[in-house]
Amino acid sequence: MLIGRSTRLRALERADLVNVVGWFNDPDVRALIARSSPLSLAEEERWFEAQLKSTTEAVFLIETLPTPRAPARALGVCGLNRIDWKNRSGVVGIVIGAAADRGRGHGTDAMGCLVDHAVFDLGLHRVELEVYADNAPARRSYARLGFVEEGVRRQATFKGGVFKDNVVMSVLAPEWRARSPRSAPSSSSSSSSSSSSSPSPPPAVAARARSRRPRR
Ligand SMILES: CC(C)(COP(=O)(O)OP(=O)(O)OC[C@H]1O[C@@H](n2cnc3c(N)ncnc32)[C@H](O)[C@@H]1OP(=O)(O)O)[C@@H](O)C(=O)NCCC(=O)NCCS
Repeated sequence: MLIGRSTRLRALERADLVNVVGWFNDPDVRALIARSSPLSLAEEERWFEAQLKSTTEAVFLIETLPTPRAPARALGVCGLNRIDWKNRSGVVGIVIGAAADRGRGHGTDAMGCLVDHAVFDLGLHRVELEVYADNAPARRSYARLGFVEEGVRRQATFKGGVFKDNVVMSVLAPEWRARSPRSAPSSSSSSSSSSSSSPSPPPAVAARARSRRPRR
């Protein structure tokens, strides 16, 4: 389990696939992700079986953190794909399934957990993603976490009858370590680390980092 401030990530189970298919079949979600065709449960189950054997993918269910009054609730999925163990890089993706759960900080929190896992547990050096240029909330969320826009793959995606630009973003391990509370020498101290010349995180990210629970 990877624990964040408002979310936690756990391994995706077969029983979660019905939820995932529902989220991916929402036209509003499909407009923002690489998948363009409706997804069947059978196809998702086939992908799931292959993923279980894969050494280059790690997929997680995003849940709310449980409280005494409310059990954990499924929010979405995220994962690391195309892990390149030689060059120590991976490609991340994320979906918060229900519109009502977006814009509440859960996506940013979950992606922070995922990058923590990539950098601190798997030893990746470069975490990258592609996002459609017109997906403003996603770009904002990634930028808040420290992802840097590297360039644009012009008109790389044909979607909804138009060609869209794909923005390439990445964060490198030293940049991430300079921001993450997991880099702090003591888990109880806040993150005024002197580990690099990277800029300080924006105040909101720093506040989130300070209040994040220790991770395993
Ligand atoms: C992208 C996604 C994971 C982000 O998760 P989220 O929980 O909705 O995002 P957060 O609430 O953590 O952060 C969103 C940020 O975008 C901002 N935002 C929202 N709408 C915006 C808009 N139209 N323009 C600019 N910024 C916007 C929010 O204010 C917030 O920034 P802030 O924290 O500085 O205020 C989620 O929206 C999602 O799953 N979308 C559908 C699928 C998708 O786009 N996946 C990513 C494909 S690359």
